[in-house]
Amino acid sequence: MSTPNPLTRDGFIQAQDALASAAEEKAAQRQHAKHKLTARERLALFFDDGVWHEVGQFIGGSVRAGRVGSAVAAGYGRVQGRMVAAYAQDFSVLGGTLGKVEGDKIVDLIDLGIRMRIPIVGIQDSGGARIQEGVVALAQYGRIFKKTCEASGLVPQISIILGPCAGGAVYQPALTDFIVMTRENSHMFVTGPDVVAATTGEKVTLDELGGATIHNFQSGVAHHMADTEEEAIDYVRSLLDYLPSSCEVAPPRYEYLPNPEDEEAARAVADLVPTSARQPYDVRDVVRALVDHGEYVEIQDLFAPNVTIGFACVDGASVGIVANQPMNDAGTLDVDASEKTARFVRFCDAFGLPIVTFVDVPGYRPGTEQEQAGIIRRGAKVIVAYANATVPMVTVILRKAYGGAYIVMGSKSIGADLAFAWPDAQIAVMGAEGAASIMYRRELAAAREDGSFEETKAALVARYEEETVNPEVSVASGQLDGIIRPADTRQTIIDSLHLLASKDQRAPHVKRHDNGPL
Ligand code: HXC
Repeated sequence: MSTPNPLTRDGFIQAQDALASAAEEKAAQRQHAKHKLTARERLALFFDDGVWHEVGQFIGGSVRAGRVGSAVAAGYGRVQGRMVAAYAQDFSVLGGTLGKVEGDKIVDLIDLGIRMRIPIVGIQDSGGARIQEGVVALAQYGRIFKKTCEASGLVPQISIILGPCAGGAVYQPALTDFIVMTRENSHMFVTGPDVVAATTGEKVTLDELGGATIHNFQSGVAHHMADTEEEAIDYVRSLLDYLPSSCEVAPPRYEYLPNPEDEEAARAVADLVPTSARQPYDVRDVVRALVDHGEYVEIQDLFAPNVTIGFACVDGASVGIVANQPMNDAGTLDVDASEKTARFVRFCDAFGLPIVTFVDVPGYRPGTEQEQAGIIRRGAKVIVAYANATVPMVTVILRKAYGGAYIVMGSKSIGADLAFAWPDAQIAVMGAEGAASIMYRRELAAAREDGSFEETKAALVARYEEETVNPEVSVASGQLDGIIRPADTRQTIIDSLHLLASKDQRAPHVKRHDNGPL
C-alpha cells in the first residue's frame, strides 16, 4: 500500500488513521508484554459497547511529520447510557509522563466534565512529571489539582490506577471521590524505592511502598482492589450506576418490581443477627437482605472493616449505606473507621444520595493506641459529616448502640430525620457490664467480701439492662421514632425514604464553609 499524502483532504485522514494505528500497534506491543492493556483499549472497555469519541488525539504531534500527539488519550462516551468524560494515560509514549500538552489535555477534559455536568474518570499509568519539561510539568499538576478541586462535589470523579502513579502526581487521584487499583500492576507512592533508599536507607519494594494491598488494607488510599484491569473497569461502571451525573440532578432511580425473594429475605432478616450482644455476625448479610435484589456494592471493603459502606437501591432508589460490622473488632469505631465513614457520608451528601445507617456499635475503640492516633480529632469527622448532611437520613439500631459512637452514627440528635430500633436493641451510655462496675462499685466490693460476687453482679447487670438499656427510654425521650419488628425494617426504610424524598434543607450561603477537622 502506498503512503497516503497528508497534503490532500482524503490523504490527511488516511495519514492520520495510519499514524494512530501504528502508534496503537506499538502501544499494544509494549503494554501487552507487561500484561497490561493500552490506554485506548482501556477506554474502549470502559464505555458502552466500546464506543467512545476521542478528543485532541494529535495535540502536541504532527500528522504530516508522522509524530503522535501526547501521552494521554481523552474523550467521552456513554456508560449504561449516560454520558461520561474519561482520560487514560498512555505509558507507551514517554512512560505516560505529564508535560505541557498532557496537562492541558487533562485540564480541558475535567473542564468538559464540569461544563457538561458529567462524571469524570481518569485512568492513571504514568512515571509522573516529565523530567525533561521541568517546572512546566510541575505547574501542570498544580493546574490539574485546582481543576479537580473545582469539579469535586459538582460531578463524581473516579480514578483507576493501572500502572505507576508516582510522586506528587498521586494527589490528583487522591482528590477524586474513589480510587480503584489492581492487585498486581498498580502502584502509588510519593517517593519511589530508589529515593527512599537514598534518603532514608530503607530498602523497600514497589509493592511494599505503594502496592494495591498496602493502599487497600492499610493506608485507606484506595477504595477497591480488583484482580484484573477488566474487573477494575467493570467495578467503576457499577459504581456509576448508583451516582447522579452531577450534584444538580437527582440520583438514579430504577424501576423496581416487588418479588418473593426480596420479600422473604426482608421477612427473615432477624435470623441474621444473634440476640447475644457479644456474638459476631456479618452485617453485610443484613444489608443484602434489606435492599433490592440483595445487591450491595461495597466500597473500601478491605480497609477499616469494622464499618461497611457502599451503595444499594431501596425500592428502586439509589442510597448510601453505612453499617457497623460486628464481625471485625466487635464493630468498634476507630480512627480509620471514622474517616472512612465520614468521607462517605460527605460524598453521599454532596451528590444528594439518601443515607441509611445500621447501628450495632459497642463504642469507640479504647486504648492509648487510638488516643495517640488522634481518635478525638479524627473521630470528630463523623460528627462533621452527619451533622452537616442535608440529604434524607434514616437510621436503624439493630442491636447495641453505646455511648458517643451511637450518637455520632447518624443518631436523631446528630441529624437523622427518622430513627428506629429493633425490640432487643440496647441503647445506653455504655454496656451493662461496664456500667454496673462503675455504678454499683460499693455493692460489688461488699459482694466480693461475702463471696456472692457473681450472683450480685449478674443481678445488678440485669437491673441496669432492664431499667436503662432497653429502647423504650429512647422512644419516650424522643430519640427514636419507633421500635419496629425486624421483619418490617425494609418497608419502614422504603416508607421513610418516600416521605423524605422532598427534603430540601440545604444551608443558605451565609458562611464560606465550616471549619471542622478535615
Ligand atoms: C521522563 C520518564 C519518567 C519521568 C519514566 N520515564 N518516568 N521520563 N520523566 N518522570 C520514561 C523512561 O525513561 C522510559 O523511557 C519510559 O518512561 C518507561 O519507563 P521505564 O522506567 O522503562 O518503565 P518501568 O520499568 O515500567 O518503570 C516505570 C517507573 C519508573 C516505575 C514509573 O520509570 C520510574 O521510577 N520513574 C520515575 C518515577 C518518579 O519518581 N516520578 C516522579 C517524578 S516527580 P524509554 O525512552 O526508555 O522508553 C513528580 C512530581 C509531581 O511526578 C509533582 C506534582 C505536584
